[in-house]
Amino acid sequence: MKLAVVGVGYVGLVAAACLADGGNNVICIDNDKKKIAGLKKGVIPIYESGLAEIVKRNEAAGRLHFTTDSKEGVDNSLIIFIGVGTPSTEDSSADISAVLNVAGFVERQVRMNLAL
Ligand SMILES: NC(=O)c1ccc[n+]([C@@H]2O[C@H](COP(=O)([O-])OP(=O)(O)OC[C@H]3O[C@@H](n4cnc5c(N)ncnc54)[C@H](O)[C@@H]3O)[C@@H](O)[C@H]2O)c1
Repeated sequence: MKLAVVGVGYVGLVAAACLADGGNNVICIDNDKKKIAGLKKGVIPIYESGLAEIVKRNEAAGRLHFTTDSKEGVDNSLIIFIGVGTPSTEDSSADISAVLNVAGFVERQVRMNLAL
């Protein structure tokens, strides 16, 4: 199945790697250009036991791709997971604005594709 994960931090990168290892084609999208450039060169930005091997294996098999282009991910995926950050605000609630931004983009893009 073709999947996308938006936000490849602790949660998103691990999820994407495991989904690819299960046989899915996964596009990893992040707006951090440096992080995506590093991942394309095999630089894993976090430590999780075994993660580097899983990423390397699945990228080599063509099941794991990295991009900063959200449109590419949305246009080529059946299911889109959102794993962007939700930092704490001053009153200790979660700032979900990044999640809403990504969800809004996905909705607009899907509607546009359906209208074509
Ligand atoms: N880390 C944990 O142990 C953990 C556990 C449970 C739940 N969570 C939740 O999972 C979510 C993700 O947490 P995390 O620790 O992986 O965060 P993170 O900060 O490690 O990763 C978030 C990633 O999203 C990217 N990003 C932010 N806005 C974006 C946008 N508009 N488009 C594309 N990429 C964008 C950032 O560049 C970053 O790489 C949060 O809601 C968090 O509360 C995390």
